[in-house]
Amino acid sequence: MADIPRYMRDVIPPESERFAEVERIGASIVELAGYRRIITPMFENTDTFTRGVGESTDIVNKEMYTFDDRSGHSLTLRPEGTAPVVRSIVTNHLDQGGLPVKLYYSAPMFRYEKPQKGRYRQHHQIGIEAIGSEDPALDVEVLATGWNVLAACGVEATLLLNSMGHPGEDCRKRYQPALKEFLEGYREQLDADCKRRMDQNPLRVFDCKVPADQAILANAPLLEDFLCASCREHLGDVQRGLKELGIPYTMAPRLVRGFDYYTRTTFEYQSAALDAAQNAVGGGGRYDGLVESLGGPGLPGIGFGLGIERIRLAQEAAGVQLPSHEVTVLVVPVGAEEKDAATSLLWSLRAAGVRSDTTYSERSLKAQLKHANRIGARLVAIIGANERAAGTCTLRRMDSGEQTELSVSDAVARAAEEQAR
Ligand code: HAM
Repeated sequence: MADIPRYMRDVIPPESERFAEVERIGASIVELAGYRRIITPMFENTDTFTRGVGESTDIVNKEMYTFDDRSGHSLTLRPEGTAPVVRSIVTNHLDQGGLPVKLYYSAPMFRYEKPQKGRYRQHHQIGIEAIGSEDPALDVEVLATGWNVLAACGVEATLLLNSMGHPGEDCRKRYQPALKEFLEGYREQLDADCKRRMDQNPLRVFDCKVPADQAILANAPLLEDFLCASCREHLGDVQRGLKELGIPYTMAPRLVRGFDYYTRTTFEYQSAALDAAQNAVGGGGRYDGLVESLGGPGLPGIGFGLGIERIRLAQEAAGVQLPSHEVTVLVVPVGAEEKDAATSLLWSLRAAGVRSDTTYSERSLKAQLKHANRIGARLVAIIGANERAAGTCTLRRMDSGEQTELSVSDAVARAAEEQAR
């Protein structure tokens, strides 16, 4: 038997249809805010991620699917969507067409993680990126758009907000030594991974999941106490904007998120319906140095990524009903002589937008009805000799067994109504 690769998942009907519905809702809401779809390759040159996401991050250190192609080029399956979009903006000079550039994606991401409920090696994100403005009003737009996508999906989330300051003189350059000094006092107590983080990039210690390390970090100095006046003002404007829109948020001074590119605004949407270790249904932030570090002009940017699988888990937990796409009508010719009439009805139904199918084998009416049940058809359109002669069909409701003989056009109209209910 051919096996699916370990820890990979197929998304099959009806889940695949609910998944697609989340994508559709997401796309329609971000398009309302002026974001346009971008499709970048599934893999990039590895250095797009090592430079973009950062050498000290877990993603680059432990989680990338990196391979050499047949010419020896190092390629990496996309672990996240921001660096590729920024790379594409630079490649295609998209910044020359008016700023901010506003793009969205709905795409698979690959991370070699320890799989568990809500954490997969291939997951999918709906994300937006807005490049070319530092205006805190743009931060508010991004935060509110993600919030609206979740709300439209029926997911109740808590919005956590932080400012990472900027890497310049006044914020992080003052904070990093203070954090390092604090951590040095605990060097022997921290686990090996955390020690590596501390030496490579002290901010990354906040990504550490070990409970004993977290207890130590509870007393660590916080970046918020080192923010410069302009970052503080920027954060204040974002907070005011959120209040204006009535979007509740909680400040989370230890939220550094697992990427080196973040500056200033960082945020996460968490759902209480998910397990604590992977309760983020989405997250994002500002990355004011990323475009430049990928070889483009010094343009700021901000965006978010929402996890479709986690949105689906949160929806399931909340009992959100999403449509699935079973056929509405199964068209059943009783004998070989009725096949042409059945085919004609089938295509009339499809032309009217009614999901419909027929069986491609001769079976008893009883067997056909059983088949209709199995595939979830709500109606069966039966054409026997009488119906063929009269140019009608008998429409049977599968739930009640009620049958009505109708003209073809009435049957199509009735089926369309049924599908819309
Ligand atoms: P992220 O927080 O790594 O951010 O991923 C965004 C969302 O994708 C997470 O909140 C989560 O819902 C989902 N997710 C991540 N990893 C997995 C996984 N292994 N299994 C299932 N779901 C997962 C980013 O990727 C940034 N690029 C977001 C961003 C866009 N920042 C700025 N712009």
